[in-house]
Amino acid sequence: MSGPYVRIAGWGKYLPQRVLTNSELEAMVDTSDEWIRSRSGIGERRIAAPGETASSMASEAALAALRVAGVQPEELDLIIVATATPDHVAMPSTASLLQHALGASRAGAFDLTAACSGFVYALVTGAQFVQTGLYRTVLVAAAEVYSRILDWQDRATCVLFGDAAGAVVLQATDRPGGLLASLLGSDGSGACQLYVPAGGSALPTSHQTVEQRQHFIRMKGREVFRFATTTVPEAVLRVLDAAHLAPEEVDLLIPHQANIRIIDAVTRRLGLREEAVFTNVDRYGNTSAASIPVALCEALEQGRLHPGANLVMVAFGGGLSWAAAAWKWH
Ligand code: COA
Repeated sequence: MSGPYVRIAGWGKYLPQRVLTNSELEAMVDTSDEWIRSRSGIGERRIAAPGETASSMASEAALAALRVAGVQPEELDLIIVATATPDHVAMPSTASLLQHALGASRAGAFDLTAACSGFVYALVTGAQFVQTGLYRTVLVAAAEVYSRILDWQDRATCVLFGDAAGAVVLQATDRPGGLLASLLGSDGSGACQLYVPAGGSALPTSHQTVEQRQHFIRMKGREVFRFATTTVPEAVLRVLDAAHLAPEEVDLLIPHQANIRIIDAVTRRLGLREEAVFTNVDRYGNTSAASIPVALCEALEQGRLHPGANLVMVAFGGGLSWAAAAWKWH
């Protein structure tokens, strides 16, 4: 491929201050620290303060990413926000609210919905605008406030998720690198394995939907586990093949941080060294679309990415959906 190439020029994350520990959850539902740690690897998660929203958290992450990139908000051509927990269900888009909060006066803005796969979907989408030469500077953000759509009486789901936001600034460059290959996948036959039944056009809000707690996440944990452990390694192998890379050439894999047992299974299946796989699920739980950009920021803070490194990001979630991107860091 010849240029323009796409580069991640800036990155930022935002984690709400409030830490919710497993011990605190023991007082809320019939669970234990031991059960949560052994089944998911999660020790604690963050919970947004009452005034915080997807757009306010995305704004914090985006400002950090713009600072790292040395880019002014007015330079942005486009803003994409991946979220399953937008500020408003129908309109406006969370991306429009973020555009206004940043003062990104020249930017178009839209939301992208692909649940936990949302950031990788949005990254690949944003990269296309840069690689085709249409835009030079694109902000891709992911922000999730799952604490607002969790049923805090359902121990099977409420212990697994947390709130967070992350963002990257994509820029055009003549230097080879960036997105090498990508894969976007979907299997809507599994829609009901991970979903929020009511509040949309299929089942509009009513007294009954509220009484029946249908505005909260429902999940078939075992089915989702099976789906993830088969689909994720397959997606990574396919994207590596398309990028002409072997698994041993992966310098860093950033998988969606849903569950340490899923991450371990994927690591084993791909034959990767443990050091080549990033995890922080113990501290944040599953932050849906925000998990990969937050992990990317922490990997960079820890010096785990150097110019020329082969990075693979892979996500899966509601839809069912999955997405993978092979990226040459530069
Ligand atoms: N605390 C204590 N017990 C719990 C519990 C909790 N928080 N949640 C469920 N249980 C119970 C169940 O009721 C069940 O009890 P039973 O056998 O008496 O019916 C028992 O624990 C075992 O449940 P099971 O579903 O078999 O556990 P599991 O080993 O499959 O682990 C998950 C459950 C959810 C951790 C696991 O299936 C998983 O990680 N799935 C993927 C979920 C995911 O990542 N979703 C997001 C994708 S983006």
